[in-house]
Amino acid sequence: KTLKSLGDLKGKRVLVRADFNVPLDGTTITDDGRIRAALPTIEQLRGQGAKVILMAHLGRPKGKVVPELSLAPVAARLGELLGVQVPLAEDTYGPDAHAKVAAMNDGDVVLLQNVRYNPEETSKDEAERDAYARKIADLGDVFVSDGFGVVHRAQGSNYSVAKFLPSAAGLLVEKEVKALSKATENPERPFTVVLGGSKVSDKLGVIENLLSKADRLVIGGGMVFTFLKAEGYEVGSSLLEEDQVDTVKGYMATAREKGVELVLPTDIVVADEFKADSPHQVVPADGIPADKMGLDIGPDSQKLFHDKIVDSKTVVWNGPMGVFEFPAFADGTRAVAQGLVDATKAGAFTIVGGGDSASAVRNLGFPEDGFSHISTGGGASLEFLEGKELPGLKVLE
Ligand code: 3PG
Repeated sequence: KTLKSLGDLKGKRVLVRADFNVPLDGTTITDDGRIRAALPTIEQLRGQGAKVILMAHLGRPKGKVVPELSLAPVAARLGELLGVQVPLAEDTYGPDAHAKVAAMNDGDVVLLQNVRYNPEETSKDEAERDAYARKIADLGDVFVSDGFGVVHRAQGSNYSVAKFLPSAAGLLVEKEVKALSKATENPERPFTVVLGGSKVSDKLGVIENLLSKADRLVIGGGMVFTFLKAEGYEVGSSLLEEDQVDTVKGYMATAREKGVELVLPTDIVVADEFKADSPHQVVPADGIPADKMGLDIGPDSQKLFHDKIVDSKTVVWNGPMGVFEFPAFADGTRAVAQGLVDATKAGAFTIVGGGDSASAVRNLGFPEDGFSHISTGGGASLEFLEGKELPGLKVLE
């Protein structure tokens, strides 16, 4: 159900669950992508004369009030972006939330304090979560689920609330679902999936699901060393999940059987230690010295990955190729991002999925419109790509 299904919202109190789980350095937001992604829904609701009551989590305070995880920096940034005051209620459904909502005029925006300050938000006990969600529901007339990044969770403010109010997906959730479905359900071919990030164990479901859909799987990041080990190479002191080597060997066999091209790096940037200023050098992928750790893909691999991406009609990318936070090891991630930008220009449909790759793209200075879609989901977009049923979407059906 989309926003339209909620009818005329003038004067209505609209509870909106957003994903404002942004990276913070103290109280400074280092990537406000998720806040900006929520603006279309908020603007549309304000335009309709609704009272917009926003709910969100920040971090994992585990049911306690952790002042460092207050949504105050989010309220401030949102206010700047919208050009209006966004008051922050001290609580999620307590006296201050009620007072602030009661004082709202049509078109006003209020943010409720971190929903995860309440132990019931993430309670495993459904009855407890429902009782809490009913209290939240008292604050609104309708519910809009727009926190795509949390749709893989069945929690109080994104799932249980939908049981007690007329509910619909917001514009962001709608856009994410359309984009990710377009890539996974009926991709124009060649369909290339680029995977990185530190752990192969985080990506097992995605690899399994996409092995039967993609034409090509390009692997980099920390997880690639488990693939190189499965190829029979030594990986020095690089990240390695020894217990996944056999699983990866199985994937390699499946890829061969199904005719899926598996692209691994041919050279690696290795360093003495995990440090921004560590001495480093480029070595062949089958020649990583025992005392070195791989922190990025090498220049030949960067060109190879870029070219494979450009030779695609659909590209889904999840996970950085190296330790992009250290400038010396950011070139692999940059080359992949550039590949997607070039593919987009050539008419391909390109998706950057996942928290880290989305932050990498923005922090490396790539324009957002260089890609067909930058997902705001981390775990949520991964689970979507795994083909799993997502409770936060299911409850809106
Ligand atoms: C995310 O950052 O991926 C989402 O906000 C979900 O956060 P969570 O993994 O703490 O539930």
